[in-house]
Amino acid sequence: MADGKTRERIVADLMSSPVVTVASDETVADAARRMTEKRVGSVVIVDGAKPVGILTERDMVRFAASGTDAGTALVSEWMTPNPDTVDPTKGVAEAFEALAENRYRHIPVVSDGSLVGIVSLRDLMKISQIVPVEAPAADVPRGLEGVVVAETAIGDVRGTEGFYHYRQYDAVELNRKRSLEDVWHLVFVGFLPDAGQAKEWMDRIRPLREIPDEVRPLLSEIATLGETFKPLEALRSSYSALAAALGYGPSLDISHDELFEQAMRTCAVIPTLLMALWRLRNGQEPVEPHPDLGYAANYLYMLKGEVPSEKEAWAIERYLISTIDHGFNASTFTARVITSTGADLGSAVVGAIGALSGPLHGGAPSRALDLINHIEKPENAEPMLREMVEQGDRIMGFGHRVYKTEDPRSRLLRDVAEELNAGRIDLARHIEQTAVKVLDDLKPGRKLYANVEFYGGVVMEACGLPPEMFTPTFTSSRVIGWTAHVLEQAADNRLIRPAAQYIGPPPPQPVPEKEL
Ligand code: ACO
Repeated sequence: MADGKTRERIVADLMSSPVVTVASDETVADAARRMTEKRVGSVVIVDGAKPVGILTERDMVRFAASGTDAGTALVSEWMTPNPDTVDPTKGVAEAFEALAENRYRHIPVVSDGSLVGIVSLRDLMKISQIVPVEAPAADVPRGLEGVVVAETAIGDVRGTEGFYHYRQYDAVELNRKRSLEDVWHLVFVGFLPDAGQAKEWMDRIRPLREIPDEVRPLLSEIATLGETFKPLEALRSSYSALAAALGYGPSLDISHDELFEQAMRTCAVIPTLLMALWRLRNGQEPVEPHPDLGYAANYLYMLKGEVPSEKEAWAIERYLISTIDHGFNASTFTARVITSTGADLGSAVVGAIGALSGPLHGGAPSRALDLINHIEKPENAEPMLREMVEQGDRIMGFGHRVYKTEDPRSRLLRDVAEELNAGRIDLARHIEQTAVKVLDDLKPGRKLYANVEFYGGVVMEACGLPPEMFTPTFTSSRVIGWTAHVLEQAADNRLIRPAAQYIGPPPPQPVPEKEL
């Protein structure tokens, strides 16, 4: 903090007291009523004079997004338990730093174990003279949880129901009844094709699977770069070269039809690029796409050079369809942000591949399979999972930002793995049941279940895909969703440009002269 006066102020000078409190057996509706009446952004949950939790506006947004009944849900299920606290004698600067570092907005003030007040980031900002010069931006929860940032007609996810849809159809029912090409048509064009339209669609896709001649010679160089092969890094480099070679211009400057054609080509060619890169890295010649095979069978064919069994093609098609689109997930949002700048489709897809590659998003299925391998036997599941969560590690393939009940994709893929008689299905099922119990025990109220990645890995392994190709397989279906969103964004565009709350040292401070 810059000025001497600020340094002398202590938390007791600016905290609010008395504090608005609720007891842990009161309901979320009681807490909301009290927050509204007293016009405060948080309530402290107390046991006598001792603070045992805090419930903030951020928790309320999370709660509202869950669709739970506020009249019956207890604050104890939604509060942050054992919140960090601050001593009233602590200097304002120090308290400000603690809040900023931990990204808290409110912190209870506690003296000798008793609650004596509460301070907010806003109070500390005022005293530190960090006053925004313009109207403050709307306060949104971290990670944009539950925030609506656009309109879409492509699909949506209903987290508390465990339901998701593509256009107007239940995505699980579509998956059971239709082919990947049909669903691609639905997502791109807006309706399911009849037999004639499906044939035309397939005829349109077939030549687009071919890798353009100017890109082919680059692939072996890209595939053999680096000590370890990271297929998504190789994909983004080779796809970027393809977009440059085909002259994909800024979406702002081209027609919808041109952008649509580029999106078609992108979705058709990405599986071919991926399999060519994989084979080249492994010293094998790429396998050309098979003109008579549908998307899923051709996918496995280009990997192994053999026509897969019907069951394998069926199983991988179920996985691919299940992952085409899923609301405003991080990679789809990335693609839309990039498109909103008017940039080319190639940039949007490369950015989305990067976002998907992270372990908190699409990078989890091989890690989930590693977990199954690591646990090895049913009797290891409980102690190993418990230890992981107690140490603060995440169980890969569990938890979801939107689903607060079973992920319908996980249920679907568990059935597929069972149908395939996948080698690990019994152990996987046992681990799933144990993990749900352990998470409920150690992370009560968070509602953590298996997500798409858990059984996704089991299905892909059973179809002969190497673990390194799990996330790339996810990419090759999700690109259909990304590019549908690119088309939708470009058709009705406004630059996506949010704001951030500045929480660093108060500006402007004098810039120290350069030492000579
Ligand atoms: N294992 C253990 N604890 C977990 C897990 C998990 N898999 N997931 C969430 N939690 C806990 C968190 O530690 C946190 O606990 P806390 O309140 O004590 O701090 C609480 O649940 C809420 O977690 P957040 O990180 O706030 O939830 P968020 O919505 O941001 O995260 C995510 C969702 C990233 C998917 C998370 O559940 C996770 O890391 N899972 C493991 C990775 C994974 O499976 N990723 C694939 C997701 S599916 C997809 O993208 C296609």
